[in-house]
Amino acid sequence: MLKKRIRFEPLREKVTDPDTACLHIQNGTNLFISGFTAGYPKLIPQALVRRAKAGEQFKINLFAGASTGDEVDGILARADLIDWRRPYMSNRGMRQMINNEQIRFKDDHLSRLSAQVRNGGWGEAHVAVVEAAAITEKGNLIPTMSVGNTPTYVREAEKIIIEISAEPPALEGIHDIFIPEDPPYRMPIPIYRAGDRIGKPFIDMDPDKVVAILDSSEQDSCAVFNEPGEVPRRIAEHILDFVAHEIRKDRMSPGLPWQSGVGDVANAVLSGFMENDFFQTIDIYSEVLQDAVLDLIDLGKVRAASGSAMTLSHKARTRFFNELYRYREKIVLRPVEISNSPEVVRRLGVIAINTAIEVDIYGQVNSTHLMGSKMMNGIGGSGDFLRNGAISFIVTPSTAKRGKISAIVPMVSHVDHSEHSVDVVVTEQGLVDTRPLTPRQVAEAVIKRCAHPDYRDLLWEYYQQAVHSAGGHEPHLLSEVFDFHQRFMATGDMRLN
Ligand code: COA
Repeated sequence: MLKKRIRFEPLREKVTDPDTACLHIQNGTNLFISGFTAGYPKLIPQALVRRAKAGEQFKINLFAGASTGDEVDGILARADLIDWRRPYMSNRGMRQMINNEQIRFKDDHLSRLSAQVRNGGWGEAHVAVVEAAAITEKGNLIPTMSVGNTPTYVREAEKIIIEISAEPPALEGIHDIFIPEDPPYRMPIPIYRAGDRIGKPFIDMDPDKVVAILDSSEQDSCAVFNEPGEVPRRIAEHILDFVAHEIRKDRMSPGLPWQSGVGDVANAVLSGFMENDFFQTIDIYSEVLQDAVLDLIDLGKVRAASGSAMTLSHKARTRFFNELYRYREKIVLRPVEISNSPEVVRRLGVIAINTAIEVDIYGQVNSTHLMGSKMMNGIGGSGDFLRNGAISFIVTPSTAKRGKISAIVPMVSHVDHSEHSVDVVVTEQGLVDTRPLTPRQVAEAVIKRCAHPDYRDLLWEYYQQAVHSAGGHEPHLLSEVFDFHQRFMATGDMRLN
């Protein structure tokens, strides 16, 4: 298998074992890895943990494309091997260490990272560790299920370690690798339709930088998608009904591509297209492609689907690999600086749908911090899409923690997206198009239509008092604005007893 996958013969002599390969990584190494929810290396992290368990004291700075599986973020965090981690992560243990300041973490818009690395903004790229499906006859790399920042990491790294994964088929033809020039010499990114291919089907690589190649039979830990529950289904219905209405009224073009964030709600929105007769064919210009995209392709409802990674359940992954010949026609995986490019998102007129932790009555959004202080995952691509979409939806279930938390609050406890980036607020309760409304009208509509009935009176009371006591364009009572959060922290419930 390995011989077939390493088609550039001189590199075959670099095949080694993980414990030898990982000696290229030492205390203080800046380690740039592939991976964007999928497609991350698995053998090198295990080898690093073995060294730590044998008593060696060292820490690395870990840079990926976005989140990885427990096989990277989880085990390295538990072994206390990480000094810095950037960007987005979603591992429970790592999150805890970040919030305890045991791991340094900085949140960034994902579209910006590759250029920052090329500019040296993240320090020297000592070692890149990348998972690949194959090395081409000319010594270039075919990635696996994600592209993320890997093309830039491979270009910038002093040394490259490759884990050749036996799991996927060679995957040739899925990827479209294009690294834009850096300012001030950057030309427009020539994508005019979601499915346009503008680059190469492989990552350019200097074979002389490859120090080790590993034979891997490890697999990505697969996503688990629940059948959309009542709440995500209602959110999806609100959005699809609204967009259909706008198209019928001629206020929106029928051909705009769709972006949908990560998780069950995002998956439900795309699943919603399946039973919807109004939308016959859609384009997807998104970041992470999930199971629902394959289902829609099977139904003949997708013209093209562009993203930077595929996060699939076990079942969908097998289907994807078995029928690659079919999906390859429709799916393009790009570097994240292209999939999330603000310029392209704005020009294509993407319909952006992203999930919030909480939204305030005027439409400011917190996507990252629980109760204002604790990092959840990171801003990811939500800012890239929300700020630049032709129309931007922010969605959330109206409550969390079995009703004890209202996702609609007087003022968000942390701001990721301002009211100016948000066009439509959606919960399972209802939807508010904020565009034609004044801030006061937004507050009234969000309380009446989006808040959960358990919280409507409380929010209304707050708003009325703010109007009468403070007045102004966006009335707020500064002394009471975080009462909801404080009550939850004191009693475990935002509701009054
Ligand atoms: N206050 C406190 N905790 C809250 C909360 C709130 N307002 N809302 C949700 N939570 C908790 C949930 O209870 C849950 O906790 P648990 O893990 O202990 O059960 C956790 O936060 C996650 O909530 P869940 O409903 O499972 O969220 P999700 O999986 O749909 O993710 C985000 C929601 C916002 C965390 C996620 O979408 C995200 O990271 N977004 C930012 C990046 C992004 O949008 N990327 C997409 C761009 S393509």
